Amino acid sequence: MTQTELITKRLEGKIAVITGGNSGIGLATAQRFVQEGAYVFITGRRQSELDKAVKRVGRNVIGVQGDVSNLADLDRLYENVKQQKGRIDVLFANAGVADVAPLGSITESHFDKIFNINVKGLLFTVQKALTLFQDGGSIILTASIGSSKGFEGVSVYGATKAAVRSFARSWTVDLKVKSIMIDLCLFLFLPSRTNKYDSFSD
Ligand SMILES: NC(=O)c1ccc[n+]([C@@H]2O[C@H](COP(=O)([O-])OP(=O)(O)OC[C@H]3O[C@@H](n4cnc5c(N)ncnc54)[C@H](OP(=O)(O)O)[C@@H]3O)[C@@H](O)[C@H]2O)c1
Repeated sequence: MTQTELITKRLEGKIAVITGGNSGIGLATAQRFVQEGAYVFITGRRQSELDKAVKRVGRNVIGVQGDVSNLADLDRLYENVKQQKGRIDVLFANAGVADVAPLGSITESHFDKIFNINVKGLLFTVQKALTLFQDGGSIILTASIGSSKGFEGVSVYGATKAAVRSFARSWTVDLKVKSIMIDLCLFLFLPSRTNKYDSFSD
């Protein structure tokens, strides 16, 4: 095998779960992981988008519809992974939403929606996956530059991503005994389905 093939096949045989894998960053990651040799499970709430994403990835992919803030949906996801592949090597907890609401117009439903998906959903996505990790592995969390920098109108979103950043620090210590690595992705201004992140400007 050439050096290039070795690098491009570095996920050969690995089993990956990518939440929010039916569009944007999650879908691009699923495509890349499969190119590099992984088998991927992708999730999202919209079945139609999930079906399209499965077609785009093309091979070595299963779509499992579900909402990360619904714990029964997470149980169903991991039961599916367990039945089909028996383990997880890489978990990309990427599903997330951003809505704009400047201080003064923040509603309870805005707060609940964003915290339920970005914080509660991410926490239980990770916690419920742990029993499927065997010999170490990797967990990647999608945070945002908004976790440490202030942008107009997205304070609740920024607070959820700061929570994710904090989870990463604590879980690195919690998961040391299991040899599971935690990584954090901090994105800024990537084109997304909703273009919600375009409002993050100085
Ligand atoms: N784009 C940027 O510039 C940027 C910057 C900083 C951080 N991020 C973060 O990057 C991640 C991906 O965003 P993106 O830019 O790729 O946006 P996107 O294209 O809107 O993708 C979001 C993904 O999350 C899924 N999702 C949303 N809520 C969900 C839920 N409750 N349960 C399961 N899946 C859910 C969506 O599918 P369904 O709608 O079908 O559920 C979709 O697949 C997010 O965590 C976002 O906060 C993005």
